[in-house]
Amino acid sequence: MSLPTNFLWGGATAANQTEGAFDKASRGRSNMDFVPSGPLRDEIIVNGVADFTDQSGLYYPSRKAIDMYHHYEEDIALFAEMGFSVYRLSISWSRIFPNGDEKEPNEEGLKFYQQVFETCQNYNIEPLVTISHFECPAHLIEHYGSWANKKMIDFYLNYCNTLFTRFKGLVKYWITFNEINMILHAPYMATGIRIADEENKNQAIYQAAHHQLIASAKATKLAKEIDSNNQIGCMLAAGDTYGYTCAPEDVWAAKLADRENYFFTDVQVRGYYPSYFKKRLEREKIELDFSENVLDLLSNHTVDFIGFSYYSSSLISADPAIQETTEGNLFPTLNNPYLKSSEWGWLIDPLGLRITMNSLYDRYQKPLFIVENGLGANDVVEPDGMINDDYRIDYLREHIKMMIAAVDEDGVDLMGYTSWGPIDLVSASSGELSKRYGFIYVDQNNEGTGSNERKKKKSFEWYKQVIKTNGAVL
Ligand code: BG6
Repeated sequence: MSLPTNFLWGGATAANQTEGAFDKASRGRSNMDFVPSGPLRDEIIVNGVADFTDQSGLYYPSRKAIDMYHHYEEDIALFAEMGFSVYRLSISWSRIFPNGDEKEPNEEGLKFYQQVFETCQNYNIEPLVTISHFECPAHLIEHYGSWANKKMIDFYLNYCNTLFTRFKGLVKYWITFNEINMILHAPYMATGIRIADEENKNQAIYQAAHHQLIASAKATKLAKEIDSNNQIGCMLAAGDTYGYTCAPEDVWAAKLADRENYFFTDVQVRGYYPSYFKKRLEREKIELDFSENVLDLLSNHTVDFIGFSYYSSSLISADPAIQETTEGNLFPTLNNPYLKSSEWGWLIDPLGLRITMNSLYDRYQKPLFIVENGLGANDVVEPDGMINDDYRIDYLREHIKMMIAAVDEDGVDLMGYTSWGPIDLVSASSGELSKRYGFIYVDQNNEGTGSNERKKKKSFEWYKQVIKTNGAVL
């Protein structure tokens, strides 16, 4: 079993789940600053908030997160100790453009990331930067309607231009949008759009998605113009859908469900709107603006690699009587009786990773990059101070085995693997700190109290060895 010697190993985080310091260094407010933990969260990540005022009695976990803003040197040093050759992180848009529509960026914000990237460079860690990870300045939502508005493309491009220019030589791997298909399930969290009850929901979703797809192609073009070394990726919340039975109706339902997701990568990787989607637009009377050479733009500026997250497969049935569901990455799926699930109900399917990698590679024949995978679990600090997260090691071991099989036996071209949340962080779906993914424990609870001290878990040494042996010792 072997992986290429230049295989990139590391971990992935997002600004709104780690940085905190939401009111430091002239940062503006962003969509996630107003998403509380607790029972209202599910509704808000889908529909958004009526206005940007604080509601008393609510805790907004992104504002504090794990305070990586002040701990990044220590955290990156720990990543380096594990042997990371890549660290995926995102930039907080509102740190660079506090309102989003300014012409000139906020120098304090740029300086912060400059220091972060220089720290990575000192340890020979390649940053893999997500330009927008569930992040949109609140001002752009209030005054422009966020990605519902075509003007967003120019604001985003100005932001990209600033990043590509300022960080030339420090960053070469970029992802334009995190889990671009997540707009289907959590439109507010993913893009900042708010869909009114009377609106045609699919028109609203695909119009915003269309703007993001155009912005992604324009960003790809710009990145290459500024530095031909730049490598641009898309990012899909992946995980193939299985049919509940071998009834052709179930197989067909699974194919349609996968298409909902692959639509996004079909555009970003192949460079055109697929025929099945054009038919859907006609059928559902969804109107999108293809003027200004949009078709040429999409086809001339496709991505270099396909980033994707994988937590589990999904299951679907054409039979409405089959209804037993379980939780998944932001949306539920039918429960698969052949699989175990995590404490949060997410199915655990390592072979599903190999299946998904093969689907993606068969479809596109472009390099893949696993940019998220991991197990969210409640960790216990034992009286002796140890955190024995064997369940996490088991989860990762089985997934990495399948990843290696996809490369070694199936010939999938894979650039790297970044596990989700190498350090504990705020959960996107639940807002909890107790849904921990890390090799590094953070002493903080769901209410935001705790010392924020970092501690190595048992999995820390395990992952270090995996990286050192390039996956040979698992
Ligand atoms: C992905 C996101 O959906 O899954 C991350 O890109 C998120 O931001 C991760 O944190 C895990 O999900 P959760 O809900 O357990 O945090």
